[in-house]
Amino acid sequence: MNSLNRVVIFGVTSAIAEQTARQLVQNGASIYCIGRNPDKLNRILADLKVRAGSDQTIAGVSADLTDTHQHLALIEQANEALGGLDAALIAHGTLPDQKACEADVTLTLQEIETNALSVVSLLSLLANQFEAQGKGVIAAISSVAGDRGRQSNYVYGAAKGMVSLFMQGLRNRLASKGVSVVTIKPGFVDSPMTASFDKSGPLWAKPEMVAKGIVNAMQKGKGEVYLPWFWYIVMQIIKHIPEAIFKRLSL
Ligand SMILES: NC(=O)c1ccc[n+]([C@@H]2O[C@H](COP(=O)([O-])OP(=O)(O)OC[C@H]3O[C@@H](n4cnc5c(N)ncnc54)[C@H](OP(=O)(O)O)[C@@H]3O)[C@@H](O)[C@H]2O)c1
Repeated sequence: MNSLNRVVIFGVTSAIAEQTARQLVQNGASIYCIGRNPDKLNRILADLKVRAGSDQTIAGVSADLTDTHQHLALIEQANEALGGLDAALIAHGTLPDQKACEADVTLTLQEIETNALSVVSLLSLLANQFEAQGKGVIAAISSVAGDRGRQSNYVYGAAKGMVSLFMQGLRNRLASKGVSVVTIKPGFVDSPMTASFDKSGPLWAKPEMVAKGIVNAMQKGKGEVYLPWFWYIVMQIIKHIPEAIFKRLSL
């Protein structure tokens, strides 16, 4: 089992990340929290401090994670606050308006920057530290949307697909170095990101449930994990539909 005593979370203001932070704190972890919105961040820090014991450190800082020039300094601050790092979780993301992206390439590139390039930057820097220390867990929230491009959300899907593929290579690089690289692939999660969606049907999960799966996958050092588990089967089916048929489907 991997130690999750000192964890840095990027994008902690995400509903899924906040629930994950709560579960980690309940397990005794110290957490360094990075979130964009200072009010939300301060509320989460205050809440985690109430849940933490006197021997646990809860600290953090506000940052826009598309500013990749700040990433090294943020990781250094997390190391300093916690006395080193056992694990990192990258959770921030946006759900692009696909139609708006189709009309405006600048928006498309911004979405790719937020959902893919900023994550690749953090993964690269964390990988070098964890490789040098010879242990640790690097996790990031990708998505089932990254498994196959669909007309309704291929900007988001392409960004998440890049994250998943980058992490696959990183996992291969770090497997012999004692470092776990965990790709989290949730399906539909009831969070602010999906506030405008119709939530009827059996496929929706709560952030608490996904958070439980994330903590479990990080502890066990799993590679790719679909949350909830049935998305593995759903995506196996979707991935195996021949392209000649898939391109005609309204998905
Ligand atoms: N909900 C789903 O159905 C679903 C499914 C698959 C994967 N995911 C992924 O799960 C992760 C968490 O999403 P969620 O469902 O918990 O949604 P959420 O509550 O809307 O969280 C998204 C978070 O990302 C943060 N963020 C966006 N851009 C940022 C930036 N430039 N710098 C720093 N933070 C930034 C947002 O911060 P602000 O509060 O400042 O806006 C927000 O807290 C995302 O990566 C998402 O793509 C979600």
